[in-house]
Amino acid sequence: MSQFKISPSILSADFARLGEEVRAVDEAGADYIHVDVMDNHFVPNLTIGPVVVQAIRPHTQKPLDVHLMITPVDAIIPEFAKAGANIITVHPEATIHLDRSIQLIKSLGCKAGVSLNPATPLSVLDYILESIDLVLVMSVNPGFGGQSFIDYSLRKIEAIRKRIDATGKAIELEVDGGVKVDNVRRVADAGADVFVAGSAIYNTPDYRATIAAFRSALG
Ligand code: DX5
Ligand code: ZN
Repeated sequence: MSQFKISPSILSADFARLGEEVRAVDEAGADYIHVDVMDNHFVPNLTIGPVVVQAIRPHTQKPLDVHLMITPVDAIIPEFAKAGANIITVHPEATIHLDRSIQLIKSLGCKAGVSLNPATPLSVLDYILESIDLVLVMSVNPGFGGQSFIDYSLRKIEAIRKRIDATGKAIELEVDGGVKVDNVRRVADAGADVFVAGSAIYNTPDYRATIAAFRSALG
């Protein structure tokens, strides 16, 4: 079993057939299902809320990897937990009290993630890294699928990998945005172990073949 995980983002799925689309990537070998929650406030796009998470929950046993790009965030975190989220990731800019948001997520029995926008410095991790389960590095500016990978993210991934290793804890390093079969190896070499891919999976006709191609690129 590879240590690498693939988390297809349903942002690029056919929303009219969402349950089917979730099942399809599950059966095609996804490790997580990445759910992008956007509010047209923190990011310039509007997607889904807890009712949709609840609706897709019966379609997969895989962990729902819920990426919250919304502010304010704390009041609605319990709704996502109740809807069946397994991992809940927040952006530090979206919460005044990041530590409180992390504790809230964990108190609901979910894994807690913190996401760094491309320009967000690593220092936000200084005091909270050891209390979280996952760091989500944005390799595009959040809001849309299908954007190009920002190359300087690789340096950031390398630096975070060092910090995670120094903790000695099993904190996952997930990368989100512009990840494709042809760059995933470089992202893995920089130190990532969980790969979000939206358009690179859902815009292809055969999800199983595409996920297999990701795995063979990862070696
Ligand atoms: C962007 C989202 C991503 C997005 C990735 O704000 O957080 O998860 O769906 O899409 P691709 O893989 O197409 O860049
Ligand atoms: Zn995302």
